[in-house]
Amino acid sequence: ANLRALNTFGLPAVAHTLVTIHGDADVRRVLDHPELGRAPKLVLGGGSNLVLTRDPAAVVLRVAVPGRRLVAEREDAWIVEFGAGETWHDAVAWTLDQGLPGLENLALIPGTVGAAPVQNIGAYGLELADRFDSLDAVDLVTGRSVTLDAARCHFGYRHSVFKQPAAQGGLEGKSVITRVRLRLPKPWQPVLGYLDIERRMAETGNHTPDARTVFDWVCAIRSAKLPDWRAIGNAGSFFKNPVVSAEQCRDIIGRDPHIVHYPLADGRFKLAAGWLIDACGWKGKRVGNAGVYERQALVLVNCGGATGAEVMTLARAIQESVYGRFGIRLEPEPVVV
Ligand code: EPU
Repeated sequence: ANLRALNTFGLPAVAHTLVTIHGDADVRRVLDHPELGRAPKLVLGGGSNLVLTRDPAAVVLRVAVPGRRLVAEREDAWIVEFGAGETWHDAVAWTLDQGLPGLENLALIPGTVGAAPVQNIGAYGLELADRFDSLDAVDLVTGRSVTLDAARCHFGYRHSVFKQPAAQGGLEGKSVITRVRLRLPKPWQPVLGYLDIERRMAETGNHTPDARTVFDWVCAIRSAKLPDWRAIGNAGSFFKNPVVSAEQCRDIIGRDPHIVHYPLADGRFKLAAGWLIDACGWKGKRVGNAGVYERQALVLVNCGGATGAEVMTLARAIQESVYGRFGIRLEPEPVVV
């Protein structure tokens, strides 16, 4: 099966075997299969956080588990459950249509609900972890269905147990997420602390937006800054925003007073990787068929016909120039196959 249409970067690769997963039993059927059972597996959701540099030497499991429902109404929250194959943005829109606010800051993030916990998607001051209840997954060795709560998911900034190698006690490549339950707190309180949202409040004079308004703002902000992968292939932010010590941050500010930095609760600082890349002159640049998006330097794009190798060549060149100028190593955010 050709994977080009199944990854938002539009990178070419071929899977020798692709199995569509509609439920837990489909995973077990693959595991019980005489040949496929023991082969390595690659789990594919919306393919929006993936760089394919070659044909995967694995059976590709394409998760298409359907379903959206309100499972419980508690005094302090609503619990909603989604099949892992549901499109994330449609799930967010559905909750608002049901009168269940709380996910609006995460509007328009590409990908599926099942992929959302893997990298703990986040935007505009909110992370999936802030709205997470639990998830169901199938163990790729035993075939058993398990339920994991937030503590067992080890959520961090663009990180979870599903990105952690098995050697470090993680579940990377070990399970298929089939259902996710989210917790939408009552009463609803808007999350308005992010600069881009504050700007909208100032522009519109609306300082008490409802959830639908925040949703519309986030959609507008994202559409203005981030390329639509249907038109220009990309995987969102290509690098994580690096975290540095207070000392390192002071040192860099000494040399570059304009550097964009945010204090973290633990005393360290998060730097805007987009700013670092921009400062090195990469915005709008192109190497082969891969490029740096002209409106947001943190996003690498497929200019048409790019291969994963070309994307990685550009990524390495960016890493080298940011390291050369700032002494900071940028870490790729998507999964590189
Ligand atoms: N900046 C520049 N030049 C650029 C890009 C950014 O100077 O080319 C500066 C901006 O002016 C701003 C700062 O960098 O002061 C931060 O930019 P922005 O608000 O656009 O956010 P970001 O740090 O680039 C992160 C997430 C995004 C998320 C936004 C909004 C990461 C790696 N990325 O981007 O997530 O949508 O914040 O919350 O944390 C993704 O993960 O794929 C993603 C798109």
